[in-house]
Amino acid sequence: MGLHSSITVVGSGYVGTVVAACMATLGHEVIGVEIDQAKLDLLKAGKAPFFEPGLDQRLGDAVDSGRLTFTDDYEHAMDESEIVFLCVDTPPGENGHPDTASVSAAARAIGRAMYKPHVLVTKSTVPVGSGNWLATTVENELPDGVDPNVISVVSNPEFLREGSALKDFMYPDRVVLGGDDAQAIQLVSEAYQPILDQSFPGGDKTHRPVLVRTDRSTAETIKYAANAFLATKISFINEIAEICEWVGADVGEVAYALGLDKRISPEFLNAGVGWGGSCFAKDLEALAATARSHGQEPLILDAAIKVNQHQRHRLVRKLQQHLRPLRGSRIALLGLSFKPNTDDIRDAPAITIAQSLQDKGAIVRGYDPLVKSIPELPWLQISNDPYSALDRADALVLVTEWDELTKLDFHEVSSRMRGNVVFDGRNCFAPEAVRRAGLVYEGIGRGISADSDSW
Ligand code: UDX
Repeated sequence: MGLHSSITVVGSGYVGTVVAACMATLGHEVIGVEIDQAKLDLLKAGKAPFFEPGLDQRLGDAVDSGRLTFTDDYEHAMDESEIVFLCVDTPPGENGHPDTASVSAAARAIGRAMYKPHVLVTKSTVPVGSGNWLATTVENELPDGVDPNVISVVSNPEFLREGSALKDFMYPDRVVLGGDDAQAIQLVSEAYQPILDQSFPGGDKTHRPVLVRTDRSTAETIKYAANAFLATKISFINEIAEICEWVGADVGEVAYALGLDKRISPEFLNAGVGWGGSCFAKDLEALAATARSHGQEPLILDAAIKVNQHQRHRLVRKLQQHLRPLRGSRIALLGLSFKPNTDDIRDAPAITIAQSLQDKGAIVRGYDPLVKSIPELPWLQISNDPYSALDRADALVLVTEWDELTKLDFHEVSSRMRGNVVFDGRNCFAPEAVRRAGLVYEGIGRGISADSDSW
């Protein structure tokens, strides 16, 4: 094989679109397969069907260069490629197990269009052990007369974060490839070579990622374990934050000092309203379900999930203590996406919090730079700017730390509100600035604030 691979990417969600655009940027010939006509039209015009910083530019450049094309024709894509990245999504299914219907449908379509050898690379987060099932699903659909050995499955988990997906793809800490076919692993690692060497323009040669070659089940487990560990780390610091409130300690300083220990690292130690998004809850539930299906009780995974749910309700309870009674109070929820720099609201803490407040009789108004409606909350009024959301509000609740929201002018906030409670669900406001504007500051785990005495 030469320097450049020919690649098909199936699925154009967050993962597939980023993989397609970045692989084309690295010089590979890439064909994206998308069966949804509306999405396909957007992609052909070099536009992502969702928001991700920098992605439209990257896609547009790749499409203009001619190295990235999109089609709904599996046969054309398979004829032109040797590696197929499977990137369709696996939404939550029953009993904690992910729903693999789209993966199965895509694998069957791939099989029907496979006339020559291909390496099928699974980036979709599939239950541990799915590699074998996928290989069999593809094999069952192969056209008559095609040698069953044309298919080799390699697991290549993704670790992309929404909001920084391009950077995470180009500058990863590690690339994990799992499979028992050395030639297939070699082919995929060659596609990753510019990233492994950081030899692309702008590459960082001082931080070359580690290539982890392993078997398929181990690669699939690495993906689940990584997300489970990160989510558990956040739940851990959130539990410490609650203890901090009892003993008058400051969780920010605790986390800072913990993070200085290289064995712990400072990442993912920000206390707040807890984690959300399409991955953490789904992957923890799936890993826990795998343990349970073998008769193992997943004690730590269950606890991490429980602490996360508790965290969302704890915020509502704290509001109840400030606003007595909560019924009839006006509350401005600022930041609705599950984290900044994305319009994704899957499992967003704001949804649980808004629903719980509404159930308790509060009147909730929201604001988010990107999210303009939430299908689960058709009743939620969403303002066009943060200050209008605060008009005559009794409390401000910051749920997601968008840049624009961390820089609010508290004198303006104070003049808009009828009440005075500022609840900082991400510990990103300076308490002094809030208090100077005559407002009451409440964070998460930031000691016993002087304001607490006035409850
Ligand atoms: C995650 C993983 O990080 C990524 O590797 C994987 O492939 C996909 O799932 P993502 O869901 O995009 O990525 O977001 P991430 O940045 O991990 O944040 C997840 C949630 O944790 C967000 O709700 C965020 O606000 C929260 N979080 C994160 C905290 O509450 N505290 C922290 O310190 C960090």
